[in-house]
Amino acid sequence: MPTTQPDTVAEDLSHLPLPPGAEGLPLLGETLAFLRAPGPFIDERRRRHGDIFRSHIFGSPTVFLSGAEASRWVFAGENKFLHVRWGYGTRQVLGLQAIPQLTGEAHQARRRLLAPHFTQAMVRDFVPRMQSIATRHLERWVEHPEVTVLSTASTLVLEVALGLILGDTPVDLRRVVPLVERWVKGLFSAVPWDVPFTVHGRSMAARRELRALLEQVVVEREHLVEQPRDILGSLLSVRDDEGQPLSREAVLDETLVQLLAGHDTTLHSLTNLVWLLAEHPEVLQRCREEQRGARVDEPLTLEGMKEMPYLHQVIHEALRHLPPVSALPRVTTRDVAYGGYRIPQGWTLMLSVGGTHRASPWTEPERFDPERMGPERAEHRKQSNALIPFGGGARVCLGQHFAMTEMAVVLALMLRGYRWELVPGQDLSLAPLPFPHPRGGLRVRFSRA
Ligand code: HEM
Repeated sequence: MPTTQPDTVAEDLSHLPLPPGAEGLPLLGETLAFLRAPGPFIDERRRRHGDIFRSHIFGSPTVFLSGAEASRWVFAGENKFLHVRWGYGTRQVLGLQAIPQLTGEAHQARRRLLAPHFTQAMVRDFVPRMQSIATRHLERWVEHPEVTVLSTASTLVLEVALGLILGDTPVDLRRVVPLVERWVKGLFSAVPWDVPFTVHGRSMAARRELRALLEQVVVEREHLVEQPRDILGSLLSVRDDEGQPLSREAVLDETLVQLLAGHDTTLHSLTNLVWLLAEHPEVLQRCREEQRGARVDEPLTLEGMKEMPYLHQVIHEALRHLPPVSALPRVTTRDVAYGGYRIPQGWTLMLSVGGTHRASPWTEPERFDPERMGPERAEHRKQSNALIPFGGGARVCLGQHFAMTEMAVVLALMLRGYRWELVPGQDLSLAPLPFPHPRGGLRVRFSRA
């Protein structure tokens, strides 16, 4: 019986068995079953085989891993025996020269370039801007008898992300929002053909349009003697050892990816939070009590938000319960051993974030229960790498503090000044992709408190 202890890289691994599992259909493997319901796909196989099993998806033999120990092993293995590899279609949709696809030194250099935009000081300076954007948007929400949160909040979150990426450069949000939405739909598709009748093809067409829009901005900004202190400014100012700037292609790929990273994960998390709060009135009540005493027109600050521990508990639990990025894909660069099994070179490794959030040490993991993140139970502190909504190691999310702050700002404003209730009769089943969300987009009646 194979052990469940992680192994180091062994010399001769030929005696070890492959992880248990099935390859599925020729060519397609188990891709369709995975795409239909990634969570149940993983849970059902974890029940059968344990926290390591093999499958065949997106054209590659794939080993799924779950659990805190597996997370630690994957994060520590970056650039040693594995590196990042998204499926073919996702790679095209993301763009080849942006950070999610860079490895080794190129990846580290890009992180060094972007990291100054995500420091505590930068996030602190951004809070007033987040507050003024969110206030303006929420005031518009109350003008309608009901709003669909996923599509309505999309403009709010995009405006915040654009502020970070393009600073004060004006952009026509009415053009950009539908393009981003179409682009994101093709992030994970079973048939990555770039033709007009596929989801992937429509996504790539939206990407090209967005790219063209951004290229106009880049052309205008390229000639400035001093670049503004936004992400595009850093991308346009940087020079390599030979004094060469980043290529136009790399600048555009990176700007687009920052837009996607800054928009979709946060948008889906916020939508899910509004949903979970509406479905758990006792949690909503405690959140409101925590905000009581604060004046609606009071400026929010990073320090002030530290005085909202329960809200942060709720956000962490929502990210555990419904992690927006449900799996982190890697490829093995040599044969490796894990848990008593051999994983051959060139295989895909999927670290399942959802599976990890439902494995030990979490009790009753299918329950949404913010108490588990509180000081008394503190389940999140029982094992490092058991809570990984933002990944970990060398590729840990650069925007995690920005995103946590943005979600806290928007929710604090909603809790202080507004009420919402779910519109009856809507489809609240969970759509898993591209990021988990209620299928109907979450229709709520939104009013002033
Ligand atoms: C709730 C919100 C968010 C979640 C759950 C999230 C999640 C993640 C995860 C899991 C990764 C690691 C991917 C991997 O290991 O392959 C990641 C990477 C990244 N995220 Fe986020 N993210 C969020 C918000 C943001 C925001 C707001 C930004 C910036 C505007 C951002 C920028 C990035 C970047 C640049 C990376 C790439 C890091 C690298 O490859 O070195 N994220 N994010």
